Amino acid sequence: MIHPIVKYGDEVLAKRAAQVMVFDGELQKLIEDMFESMYAAQGVGLAAPQIGISRHIAVIDASGGKDPKSRLVLVNPEIIATEGKQTEEEGCLSVPGFREKCRRPAKATVRALDRNGTEFTMTGEGLLARAFCHETDHLNGRLFLSHLSSLKRELITRKIRKMMKKDEW
Ligand code: NI
Repeated sequence: MIHPIVKYGDEVLAKRAAQVMVFDGELQKLIEDMFESMYAAQGVGLAAPQIGISRHIAVIDASGGKDPKSRLVLVNPEIIATEGKQTEEEGCLSVPGFREKCRRPAKATVRALDRNGTEFTMTGEGLLARAFCHETDHLNGRLFLSHLSSLKRELITRKIRKMMKKDEW
């Protein structure tokens, strides 16, 4: 089932999501829904709060649906190591229409549980490192906007507030 994407301004995006303790059929269904919703919105990553569900789950597919092997599920993820820096344009399905240069680690290692509750660690580079950091941030109530300069952030949020007033957000 495709869920609508929650946008900036909704408080579910600003709070820390709950840890996942139970790995049942309902969780598997939710994960499938998250992949479906992410592909429908043409994203490379999606965190559960972005469909209004405040739980520590993220899905990532840096191939954008082209390679089934690149489907990744991160449950209760934590970034445990980073290395270097990269500055590339970054966007977010919850902040549509705004893409900004954003500094992230060049390499990031995430420790997480898979969809069955088995722990794994994985190191990503480039886009994957960016996605690990971006999605883990979401689960801690943080958007990529918080990594921009306050001037840029204020410019964007002012534009969004204007759109909200006109019911265009
Ligand atoms: Ni995002």
